[in-house]
Amino acid sequence: MYDFDAFHDRYATGSTKWSRYPAEVLPLWIADMDFAVAPEIIAALRARLEHPVLGYAVAMAELREQIVEDLAARFDWRITADEIVFLPGVEPGFNMALKARLAAGDAVLVQTPMYRPILDAPGHWGLERLDVPLTRGVEDYEPDRDAIARALRRARAFLLCNPHNPTGHVYTRDDLAFIAAACEANDALIVSDEIHCDLVFDGRQHVPIASLAPEVARRTITLMSASKTYNIPGLKTAFAIIQDPALREAFNGARSGMVDSVNLMGLEATLAAYRDAGAWRAAAIDYLQGNRDFLTRELAQLLPEIVYHPPQASFLAWLDCRALNLGPSPQRFFLDDAKLGLYAGEAFGAGYEGFVRLNFGCTRATLAKAVEQMAAAVAAR
Ligand SMILES: Cc1ncc(COP(=O)(O)O)c(C=O)c1O
Repeated sequence: MYDFDAFHDRYATGSTKWSRYPAEVLPLWIADMDFAVAPEIIAALRARLEHPVLGYAVAMAELREQIVEDLAARFDWRITADEIVFLPGVEPGFNMALKARLAAGDAVLVQTPMYRPILDAPGHWGLERLDVPLTRGVEDYEPDRDAIARALRRARAFLLCNPHNPTGHVYTRDDLAFIAAACEANDALIVSDEIHCDLVFDGRQHVPIASLAPEVARRTITLMSASKTYNIPGLKTAFAIIQDPALREAFNGARSGMVDSVNLMGLEATLAAYRDAGAWRAAAIDYLQGNRDFLTRELAQLLPEIVYHPPQASFLAWLDCRALNLGPSPQRFFLDDAKLGLYAGEAFGAGYEGFVRLNFGCTRATLAKAVEQMAAAVAAR
């Protein structure tokens, strides 16, 4: 019904992903997908343009109610419409959260490797960052409970990313309960970036940490968006869910003249996504899971030295290339020799120089070409 194999030429469309490198380089870096947006979303945007005035926008009651219903149905998480704060992005959201509740010199816990803007956020507010590496289990990356407990003796906030970028790890209820209890014991704020929560594979269940218990919700700022799942990140629309009124007020106070109203078309697209595009989302998950499994098979066959745990969510693969000895920067090697634009591991924290992140939110044919180019470059070196 939806054609994820269709190739859409994104050159000269103002795409960040397709503008960085020359035409011979296949870009698989920044986290958006090459797929056409759900027809239901396009239809809603077209319909809105029938009204010729595009003034400042607020979220209408229907969108708030849609989110309330979805969170209850999908995650058994009960919130009310006034607990949602609309934002022009998740990144402003985690920065506002830190600014709202922490003072210069306070420490913030993050788990590395980590999406760069989360790593950078504490520095914007004069905060100290405490990096706690994930540990590598047999099948997946896992939180290091002892190190978390130690860091939380000092940290005033836990900046969580679940599902995790770049590893694609989906936190278990048990791990989340441990993190929540440790934050509770040390009176730490929880900022939970759950932007990837709607693209979970293998029938797994995403658990919003705030849904664990009211006392967890009280100390939590959750950040979500339709942007990653429905491939509309260029519309710059996201939302926070903050159930404690005082915390919500402090969060809104941190706008500081820098975080203004939300994109009108983004609000329209978000409503259409959640209300009308469920079938598209299911099909996208199927296709991405197929891409993930294809990548897993291809890497095992063509580049078995790359260590990789198949992600449990989203469209990012975290590849440990250290055994290939590709020099100081595997990203540079794959750019120069394989004509692939990957994300450099060092962006995700200290000690990840030997890694790259590959975005498989592309057609299967593009992915096949990418792996072939990688393997050929490695063989020819
Ligand atoms: C974990 C995570 N948070 C936030 C963002 C960016 O969100 P936004 O564009 O809404 O600021 C991304 C984009 O890749 C992401 O992966």
